[in-house]
Amino acid sequence: MAKDKAIRELEDLPGIGETTAEKLRTAGIDSLDKVATTAPHDLSELAGISVDAAKKAVAAAQEASTVNYETGEAILQKRKDIGKITTSSKELDELIGGGIETNGITEAYGRFASGKTQLGFQLAVDAQLPKGKGGLDGAVLFLDTEGTFRPERIVEIAKAKDLDPTAVLENIIVVRTLTTEQQILTLERADKLIAEKNVKLIIVDSLTSLFRAEFLGRGALGERQQKLNSHIHRLQTLADKFSIAVYITNQVMDNPGIMFGDPTTPIGGNVIAHAATTRLYFRKSKEEKRIIRLVDSPNMPEGECIIKVTPDGIKD
Ligand code: GTP
Ligand code: MG
Repeated sequence: MAKDKAIRELEDLPGIGETTAEKLRTAGIDSLDKVATTAPHDLSELAGISVDAAKKAVAAAQEASTVNYETGEAILQKRKDIGKITTSSKELDELIGGGIETNGITEAYGRFASGKTQLGFQLAVDAQLPKGKGGLDGAVLFLDTEGTFRPERIVEIAKAKDLDPTAVLENIIVVRTLTTEQQILTLERADKLIAEKNVKLIIVDSLTSLFRAEFLGRGALGERQQKLNSHIHRLQTLADKFSIAVYITNQVMDNPGIMFGDPTTPIGGNVIAHAATTRLYFRKSKEEKRIIRLVDSPNMPEGECIIKVTPDGIKD
């Protein structure tokens, strides 16, 4: 393409800097499409820029969003380039179509100790395997929002795969985040790091816990959902831009309204349900066993499988 820079994010629009983009996101205008469909006058007011500048930004956003006509055949060709990271369980790989996909978001939700974090550790190791051996030969960005990252577990899992544990740990960039601001900022500033370190997998464990803790009560729900929405869209943008896989974990809450069936629902409601490409529901079974249910996938049927969480990592 002749254009010097492709427009992918708000910041890429003419006259929109980091601060202005942040203002827009806070006002709910968190995507190019939303800019494209906002009246310049409104945009000018929301962003605190001149009407002329707003007109230019809207025009650029409209242009950027009309390049999206693609034939089914072109998409099929592109999908051939989609990478997959093995979960180290054959059954789980088969259930989800070969592994955790790049260019998309895989969500694991379930109760405490159901194995969500353990699968994250496994993927952090497996992403580093060579292509053709279940990996993407890449580094990993690990957002630890709960303080549960355990390098010792990585060492055990790496050893079980005959990998050099030190080298594997070197390739996992861990960011311990204590607030939603830190969590959001880490991703806003991740582009350079991802490119330089060849990050092929982003893990956010967990996506929701800080949001849940910070935005309490019904009054804060709207703001929480809006921030969560923009955060998860940022993940999808990074997944597309750099062809990387994203693995997020999510807790469940009891839903006393349900009398029959499973009385738990994942946190985050529709915001996450719509944004996650593939959703996995984790349940504890006997001892090391965990039942994984594929709840939502664009191209695989629903189904279940059983994995084991062992000292050496995830197994069939
Ligand atoms: P929350 O983060 O609390 O919501 O749970 P989670 O789903 O992330 O749980 P996690 O993946 O941390 O699973 C914890 C379970 O994994 C423990 O109850 C153990 O059964 C198992 N586990 C953790 N560490 C080890 C280990 O070193 N060896 C083995 N065999 N199992 C482990
Ligand atoms: Mg966990």
